[in-house]
Amino acid sequence: MPPGQGRADPYRVWLSEVMLQQTTVVAVKSYFERFTQLWPTVQDLAAAPDDQVMAEWAGLGYYARARNLVACARAVAALGQFPDTREGLAALPGIGPYTSAAIGAIAFDRPETVVDGNVERVISRLHALEEPLPASKPEIYRLAAAQTPTLRPGDYAQAMMDLGATICTPRSPACGICPVIEFCQARRLGIAAELPRKMPK
Ligand code: ADE
Repeated sequence: MPPGQGRADPYRVWLSEVMLQQTTVVAVKSYFERFTQLWPTVQDLAAAPDDQVMAEWAGLGYYARARNLVACARAVAALGQFPDTREGLAALPGIGPYTSAAIGAIAFDRPETVVDGNVERVISRLHALEEPLPASKPEIYRLAAAQTPTLRPGDYAQAMMDLGATICTPRSPACGICPVIEFCQARRLGIAAELPRKMPK
């Protein structure tokens, strides 16, 4: 997540989550800073001309995300503020189950189950799941839900994503500096780098 992101500001959490869909933290950083400078609040973004937003988005790719971004900002501005329930968030343009869970956890500190690709890998390794993706997804979600804490769930969700993005990486995971190595079944079995297994396409 871009540094300086206000934990409690759902607008900034939402904006960064939409930008981070299919794009790396490094690539997103300058765009996030530019957008929040140009449009510090969701009302500012809602009032921006479509073509200016599209021009600022250029380079991030997946342009449907930018169109949804503007539509979502206008819907939120019409409501007056971001909804703080899962259902309210999921009803907004471009906000699916993952993004509504991430906003619920990170912005509202609710114990939501937040599972992106990075978290799938962390959970698969912690529990040494031999079943390949995507068949293992329901089991991964179940295990992720079971280990979501009620204490500081927002920090926990962000920490799991950061762990997957920086230490529990797809190849050559940095197990030597992993803060949860003592809980990792895959490491114990010597198969961390092999998980998660994938079904042949
Ligand atoms: N990818 C998607 N959301 C993210 C987040 N909050 N932190 C790091 N990477 C992410």
